[in-house]
Amino acid sequence: MDTPQDRARFRRFLRGRRPPAGAPQDSPVAQWPAPLPGAGAETDLRAAYRLCRRITRSQDPGAYAVLRLLPPVLHPAYWAVWAGLTVVDDLIDDRDATPAERATRADAWMAALETDMAAGTSTDPVRRALVDTAARWHIDLSDFRNAVFVSRNDIDHRHFDDWAQWRAWSRGHIVPMFDTVRLLLGQAGVPVVFRLDRLESYQQLNDGIRLVDTLTDLHTDQGEDKLLLPDEILNQFPGAEDDLLHGRWSPAAAALVTELTSIARRWVNQPHLTHGMHPGTAIAGKALISLLLALLDAVEAAGPALLRSQPRPSHLTRARIFLPARLRAALVWSLTPLTPPDPRQRRAATQPCPAARLIPDTTTFQQPPRHPSGCRPPRIEAEAMPAHVAIVMDGNGRWSEHRALPRSEGHRAGAAALREMVYGALEIGLRHLTVYAFSTENWRRDTEEVERIMSTLREELDDDPFRDLDVRLRWSGNPEKLPTDLVESLRQKEAATRTRTGLTCTLCFNYGGRDEITRAAASLARAARAGDLDPDLVGEDDFARHLALTDLPDVDLLWRTGGEQRTSNFLPWQSTYAELYFTSGYWPDADRRDLWQAITEYGNRQRRYGT
Ligand code: IPE
Ligand code: IPE
Ligand code: MG
Repeated sequence: MDTPQDRARFRRFLRGRRPPAGAPQDSPVAQWPAPLPGAGAETDLRAAYRLCRRITRSQDPGAYAVLRLLPPVLHPAYWAVWAGLTVVDDLIDDRDATPAERATRADAWMAALETDMAAGTSTDPVRRALVDTAARWHIDLSDFRNAVFVSRNDIDHRHFDDWAQWRAWSRGHIVPMFDTVRLLLGQAGVPVVFRLDRLESYQQLNDGIRLVDTLTDLHTDQGEDKLLLPDEILNQFPGAEDDLLHGRWSPAAAALVTELTSIARRWVNQPHLTHGMHPGTAIAGKALISLLLALLDAVEAAGPALLRSQPRPSHLTRARIFLPARLRAALVWSLTPLTPPDPRQRRAATQPCPAARLIPDTTTFQQPPRHPSGCRPPRIEAEAMPAHVAIVMDGNGRWSEHRALPRSEGHRAGAAALREMVYGALEIGLRHLTVYAFSTENWRRDTEEVERIMSTLREELDDDPFRDLDVRLRWSGNPEKLPTDLVESLRQKEAATRTRTGLTCTLCFNYGGRDEITRAAASLARAARAGDLDPDLVGEDDFARHLALTDLPDVDLLWRTGGEQRTSNFLPWQSTYAELYFTSGYWPDADRRDLWQAITEYGNRQRRYGT
């Protein structure tokens, strides 16, 4: 707020008016990027980013105001991502088109993005800005693609039985956008690491944003046949859904809105979430929470008007939230040294990434390399096939000691054996493979060995051996104590492969079964304290929903190599009925034929489950 332009701009913001089109007024705030070498004219690029800013500001003024609290050098990138999503969402929501037409148009837009990413530029201004953002900030837009993927699959309206189903859907929309914000901040040198004990709050904030969106968009649902809310809540207010969709502000409709508003208030009110964050990011986080609470006040004040227009907080309320935040953010960012990537090093990976295609298309994935012997997997009857194999990959140390090699060589050879096992799992058609790579107890080893294990994982993630295969990578473990870059790479890999449907390979790294259960218990206790759960009614399913990977199926077959016959704190919740299988060979000597043998052996077991 230190120049006359800044003051003028802020007055415009408060009045909610747009500046005249094409005016060069924002340069002190937005740092317009110069085009990268070979990527077209500077004026085109500025025009592209300006258009993205206009789209973001007019379509999503709340996000626009919050994003402006983040480092100015990132503003154009945020506008590009938000505008891109708005443009595709408009194609997806176009009521004048049939669902098939909408899907085709969204797919065509995303296919053009893939082509433009490969070309390094675009004739479409929004895609031009997106392609430039990806190259400039060295990101692959996988979060963006994931967000579009979820919206596109909503074309035929979704139905949710309960909040858990609704939550899984809602997080698919919002988490990728949060991830993009975090990723770009990280690329600029301001990593945003969430503390694990706040993960639950972070997720609830996501849910709150979605619920606030639903409440403030009720006027756009008129004439639709379904609200995007779970039956669990709608059934408590008979007739309310129909009334809300047909413009009737009945007592049931009002009561449903009151209930939803109070749930949303509880979810978004997470002030402690920003504790420990970089002060600049914390300012944006707090402003976001205040804005959401103000929107909920506006929902409450609107009453029946909610069905005719979008409720908005007053100018004064917005000024109270954003005026001091803007001043503080400007000061903080002016004092924060940022380290954007070197623009001369264009990222090689602006090529389309198969994982992130709009519709997972198995034909685009490569087949795993064959085993050198040429052998093929045995044919296993469907009912004899385990859905989930978990492996304690043990014996790396002894393998190297037998060869008079340093232990680190055993871990490197172990990583190669894991690749081999993934190929075998794909070939035989296994759906879930979960591997134990580093336990919470393994910190007791020599610092040097621990560091070697970390660097082996880092090398594997950088090498990305499953890039072209239909493998979804997930990570289970505790981020505390792990190097930040490793946590970030694991999360990025998870995000980039989120839409793959072949084999899900879950890497347990810094994993401990007791740690997982303790954290689930803490999360359950927090939910009970918040009033979301009645402790007297807690069942096993409720507990399982609080585990870190709620959708990890029960383990059918638990295999340990290396000769020890114990589970060493591996997946206690998920393995209660697993068939156990122990082999004496060391992990680096195992290959896909051993996995096939284990699966064959599993097929001969009789499972009784207490019957
Ligand atoms: C398993 O191999 C890998 C990790 C625990 C990281 P080990 O390193 O435990 O190998 P041994 O059991 O000492 O042979
Ligand atoms: C279990 O192996 C952990 C992993 C394979 C990552 P350990 O070698 O650490 O287990 P213990 O010490 O033999 O029980
Ligand atoms: Mg061991």
